[in-house]
Amino acid sequence: MGLQGDRITIRGGIPLVGRIELKGAKNLVTKAMVAALLGESPSTLKNVPNISDVRIVRQLLEVHGVKVTDGAEPGELLLDPVDVESAHFAAIDAHAGSSRIPILFCGPLLHRLGEAFIPDLGGCRIGDRPIDYHLDVLRKFGAVVEKQPNGIRMSAPNGLKGTKVSLPYPSVGATEQVLLTAVRAEGITELKGAAIEPEIMDLINILQKMGAIITVDTDRVIRIEGVERLEGYNHRALFDRNEAASWAAAALATDGDIFVGGARQPEMITFLNVFRKVGGAFDIEDDGIRFYHPGGDLKPVIIETDVHPGFMTDWQQPLVIALTHAHGVSIVHETVYEQRFGFVDALVEMGATIQIHRECLGGHPCRFGQRNFNHSAVITGPTKLHGADIEVPDLRGGFSHLIAALTASGTSTVSNVGIISRGYENFITKLQLLGADFDLEG
Ligand code: EPU
Repeated sequence: MGLQGDRITIRGGIPLVGRIELKGAKNLVTKAMVAALLGESPSTLKNVPNISDVRIVRQLLEVHGVKVTDGAEPGELLLDPVDVESAHFAAIDAHAGSSRIPILFCGPLLHRLGEAFIPDLGGCRIGDRPIDYHLDVLRKFGAVVEKQPNGIRMSAPNGLKGTKVSLPYPSVGATEQVLLTAVRAEGITELKGAAIEPEIMDLINILQKMGAIITVDTDRVIRIEGVERLEGYNHRALFDRNEAASWAAAALATDGDIFVGGARQPEMITFLNVFRKVGGAFDIEDDGIRFYHPGGDLKPVIIETDVHPGFMTDWQQPLVIALTHAHGVSIVHETVYEQRFGFVDALVEMGATIQIHRECLGGHPCRFGQRNFNHSAVITGPTKLHGADIEVPDLRGGFSHLIAALTASGTSTVSNVGIISRGYENFITKLQLLGADFDLEG
């Protein structure tokens, strides 16, 4: 798997039933791999999923001289940054457009080498996704940023110094940028308006293991005292709560019953509340969470996506399929990304009743409200979906399309499913384990 041209033909209508196991969170593991660059000695990262985003970051580390080898247990990576070196432009540029993680290499590379080159970024097309916060932050630390035709070149002629940063929005990536840069910068950094997602807290755990001094205060304030030297870490990555929510949504929409091994309650409280309100049931066990449809009608809900501890944007797309089965009108107000409803066109083609609006519906006015962004969805149910030929638009939208095809009557062909392997480990094997009826072409 992994080719963007891969296609899957799904015969829908079969409940997904069984057990799957999660590995570490995509949105932590890739950053943890970058953090290894900051150490003067090797790091060990456990619970790493075999997904294409991890493979891209591994290659980017390797072109910078980091030795990356597989450890003894499945999902264990050994990262040795002792011989970090500047990479050739062509080797870095080969990864242009493939991921958003390269922007996080800046701070560590500036500390290690005094310079960094970042290719044009990739990632899902779910909004404009600018990097202005990242560049502003790096400049504040003392980096010289030069935009070039194929990317961005940076240098730190006078080293990097601690600074005061106030983010206009609690961006996950910009918070990680500050953390990865401030830990080795000279002096103290104060970050206001920080994102506090569980994956960020786990990155802080890793940095503390490496020798960093980081205080998380109330009200989204993080203080970092720069240190002169960091060592490697040994860490087991936090589970992937976004993958857990995706399989939970699949269980509910297909009238199924899935035990998601490795899922934990504390990082999913907001999701679990909504899942219950829609009519889903869950049992929290020591080694995971069982998600299932307990029978009865699903109920409509009003959801507003938000930064943590709110309802995560990555959870809404898979859950929308269950909402097409709910009896009544549901509203999803997307406040994190301005264009995350591209995936609903295919659902409408399959028989869903979904209207997209520019206004902020069902919640508070958000920063997209006075602009021309279609960021509120009104889903009227129940509707029965029927099979169609659809194309995956982005990672979470793609998983949502898989669920739609699994619930639809008749046969659906979902193309471009390679995108899904960016963030879901072995999803084809997991679908097999759960009893889905499909053929894969690729
Ligand atoms: N933003 C700016 N300027 C910046 C940075 C962000 O305007 O310089 C805006 C974005 O355009 C967006 C908002 O701030 O509207 C939030 O973006 P954020 O920086 O928080 O997102 P990210 O770091 O690019 C990560 C995850 C996303 C997840 C978001 C929100 C990774 C690799 N990606 O993105 O995951 O949705 O945080 O939690 O960690 C996914 O897994 O499918 C995915 C998109």
